[in-house]
Amino acid sequence: MRNVAVAGIGQTKFGEHWDKSIRDLIVEAGNSAINDASIERNEIDSLFIGCMSSGRYTGQEHLGALAADNLRLGHIPATRFEGACASGSLALRNAYINVASGRSDVAIVLGVEKMTDVAGDEAITSLAAAGDQEWEAAIGLTFAGLYALMARKHMHDYGTTREQMALVSVNNHHNGFNNKYAQFQTKITVDDVLKSSMVADPLRLLDCSPITDGAAALVLMSADKARAVENPVWMIGTGQGSDTIALHDRASYTEIMATKVAAREALTDARIEMNNIDVLEVHDCFSINEIIALEDLGFCAKGDGGRFVENGEISLSGSIPTNTSGGLKAGGHPVGATGVRQAIDIVRQLRGDAFNKVNAQKGLTLNIGGSGATAVINVFSTEGK
Ligand code: COA
Repeated sequence: MRNVAVAGIGQTKFGEHWDKSIRDLIVEAGNSAINDASIERNEIDSLFIGCMSSGRYTGQEHLGALAADNLRLGHIPATRFEGACASGSLALRNAYINVASGRSDVAIVLGVEKMTDVAGDEAITSLAAAGDQEWEAAIGLTFAGLYALMARKHMHDYGTTREQMALVSVNNHHNGFNNKYAQFQTKITVDDVLKSSMVADPLRLLDCSPITDGAAALVLMSADKARAVENPVWMIGTGQGSDTIALHDRASYTEIMATKVAAREALTDARIEMNNIDVLEVHDCFSINEIIALEDLGFCAKGDGGRFVENGEISLSGSIPTNTSGGLKAGGHPVGATGVRQAIDIVRQLRGDAFNKVNAQKGLTLNIGGSGATAVINVFSTEGK
C-alpha cells in the first residue's frame, strides 16, 4: 500500500445558508480545496462525497455526478457514501483506500448537508431515520432522546454529573470562539448550559449540536504525486465498525462497540498506539457522546469520562486537547460534512494553521453515525508510515 498525503483542504462557513443551494456549498468547498492543493482539475481522477439525506432535505440526490459536473472534473468515477452522521468519514476512508491501493492517484473528498431548507421538526424527523425506523423513530424517539437515555444510564452507573456534561459544551464553545467557520463563535458557562431549555431530559439546548448547512472538502494524493507539496500532512490509517441499528438491542447503553472495533483497525493500519495521538476531533453530537468517546478510545477508564473532562484533560493545555476547533457543538453539524470537517481541523493542527494551535504530530477523528451503529476513525500524521 502507498503513503497518502492530504494536499489541500477547504470548507464553507457552517451555519444557515438560505442564500445558497446544496450545489453552491459543494462547489465553494471543492474549489477551495483544489486551490489550496495548487493542482489542475484534470489531475483529479476520482471523487468521493459523503451525504446523509440530501433527498429529504433538498430534493436532490445523485450527488457524486452532481459534484463532478459542477466542479468541472469531467468523466471521472464519482460516488456518494451514506452512513448517517458518519457519511463524510466513510467517503474519506474509501478515498484513502483507493489512493493507498494504487487505484487512484489524486482524489477529491467532499462532505455536505443542507439541513435548513426544511422546518426544524422536519429536519429532526429526517435525522431520526438514522435510527431504527420501526422501533425507534416511528414511536417518536429522536436522536436527542436516544442520547438522553445513554446520558441517564451513564449518570446512574458511574455518577457522571450534569455539570461534567456541561463542561464538554463549555470547552467546545471556548474553542469555537476563534474558528471563523464555526456556527457559534460564542463562549458559554456551565450555568448557561444548566439554564438552557430542556430538549430531552437530562440534555438541554446547550448540550446539543445544532441543525446546520455546510460543506467540507480535501484532496488526497499518492506519495509520488505529493512530491511537490510542501510539508504535506499524511493520512496514515482508517478503521470502521458497526453495531445494532437500535439502541435497545445493545449489551451496553454507555459504550459504543463500533468505536472500539474501528479504533483497533485504524491503529493497526497506522502502525501506532492510541497513546501516540496528540489531538482529537470526536463526535460531540450531544455532550454525553464526547465523554463516552474518550472512554471508548481508552483515554480514560470506563465511567471516568466525566471526571476526565472536569480535570481539564481535554482543554487546549490538557493531556489530550479535544475538539480544538469547537467540535460539532460550536462548529455546527451539517451531518454529511462533519467527518470531512473533522479531518480538516486535524490537518490544520498538524500543518500549523489551526485556530487554536496545540503541539501535535499525530491526530485522530472519530465520527459516529446514529446512536453508534456506525463508527469511523481516520488517523493523520506529520510523517508518512
Ligand atoms: N446550540 C446553541 N444554540 C442553538 C442550538 C444549539 N444546538 N440550536 C439552536 N440554537 C439557537 C438558535 O441559534 C436560535 O437562537 P436565536 O433565537 O438567538 O436565533 C435558538 O436557539 C432557537 O433555534 P431553533 O432552531 O428554533 O432551535 P430548536 O429548538 O428548533 O432546535 C435542537 C434545537 C437542539 C432541538 C436542535 O438543534 C436539534 O435537534 N439538535 C440535534 C441535532 C441532531 O440530532 N443531530 C444528529 C446527531 S446524532
